[in-house]
Amino acid sequence: MTENGTNLRTLQNSEALAIEGGKPVRTKPLPLEFPGVHYMNDEEEQAVLRVIRSRSLFRYYGVDLQGEVEAFESEIRQFLGVSHALGVTSGTGALQVALSALGVGPGQEIIVPAYLWVSVMAAVVNLGAMPVLADINETFCLDPSDVQRCITPRTAGIIAVHMSGAPAKIPTLLKIARERRVFLLEDCAQCAGGSVGSKKVGTFGDMGIFSFQMNKNMSSGEGGCVVSNNQRLYHRAVACHDTGYARDLNGRAIFDDLDLCLWGRGYRLGELRAAILRVQLKKLPAVIAAMRRSKYRIRRELEQYAQLRLRSIVDPNGDTGAFLIVSLRDAETARRMSEALRAEGIGTSPQGINNVVMTDWGLHIYSNIVSLVNQTSVDRKGFPWKLAENQNSKQHYTKGTCPVADRLFERSILLAIPSCLSEADEDDIIHAFRKVLARLSGKTSRERF
Ligand SMILES: Cc1ncc(COP(=O)(O)O)c(C=O)c1O
Repeated sequence: MTENGTNLRTLQNSEALAIEGGKPVRTKPLPLEFPGVHYMNDEEEQAVLRVIRSRSLFRYYGVDLQGEVEAFESEIRQFLGVSHALGVTSGTGALQVALSALGVGPGQEIIVPAYLWVSVMAAVVNLGAMPVLADINETFCLDPSDVQRCITPRTAGIIAVHMSGAPAKIPTLLKIARERRVFLLEDCAQCAGGSVGSKKVGTFGDMGIFSFQMNKNMSSGEGGCVVSNNQRLYHRAVACHDTGYARDLNGRAIFDDLDLCLWGRGYRLGELRAAILRVQLKKLPAVIAAMRRSKYRIRRELEQYAQLRLRSIVDPNGDTGAFLIVSLRDAETARRMSEALRAEGIGTSPQGINNVVMTDWGLHIYSNIVSLVNQTSVDRKGFPWKLAENQNSKQHYTKGTCPVADRLFERSILLAIPSCLSEADEDDIIHAFRKVLARLSGKTSRERF
């Protein structure tokens, strides 16, 4: 039964749309996203209290050090099946640290997808390298054949971003990276706990990064992590995230290993956040299970509609379920669909990102990133765009650079799947889609696009 009492099985095609003055499917906004946060309770509270009572909030020493960061790193290593993990202050910080560990700098090109988050670009640009845009495909992640096209003698690496909760074609991307002798960094900020063929994302490439910001599968408000199976890269990451120097078991800086006398960024994770993350990590499988259950129930219902194309999922068993993406025939239909769904109550406001046409999805879309399109510099000399080392690497970032992505963004709608959706909420979403699809453009449900 939906919020206004309609039984899904008896829905009539003739129901008047709310956008035309009919009765909306629901009036209450959908729950906000923020997957891990919905599962917070007194366990996180106790964890925080434990740290405060110890008066030891710094990871390397304290009055009565609890070792929360170290324990979290050990627990996430086990969860992911990876040899090294390093807690950091944010996903953005994790990207900077990982790219520094990988030795990224001027004269290098780093391949990034057209659909990403601005921090990926920022990390490359801040290190003086040139981001090279590769197109995506219907997975909404990197298209491996376009990655091949983008590789030049200056390419140092590929950043694969597992976007909107579901993995990229990571085994194929790994094969390309190995064959072309470039590094592969996985950005798992939006896909913590995701996997491909039972191997967790973040463990395929040379390094992986995670974010534990508010809107992530597990969260401490802010936070991040760098993982790797490569010990040398891990040691470099440890030095770069801290003072520039590695530390011994007592937390003292080591100065006699010249390979690890680098430059630091001060991105250390604190004990308070680590204590929260230890609890959140335990809850992650339940958070993912809830989102997957909701998402796949809605997907199964929508599969029958020929007017919609659902995002292609690389491994449905490894999808964390955090988002649903549906594509329509064209930009106008997508916009009308989104507006009609919003009128039916499928949205959240004033906060939240439910039901958005993807061109409006801000700094996730390459051509929306103003400082990228304009090749803006923070300094006065045009760093990194005008560096002599980058002069053979002229790039374009204006709309049109990634035509497949452009076309997908304008005709696709993104819906967040909160980890606390009730069956009635799911019914409402399905009901609203059915209502709108039944009337959309007067097309029959068999008409393909
Ligand atoms: C794909 C991706 N990478 C990196 C980040 C950066 O993480 P943070 O916000 O923790 O800096 C985000 C955050 O939204 C993200 O979505």
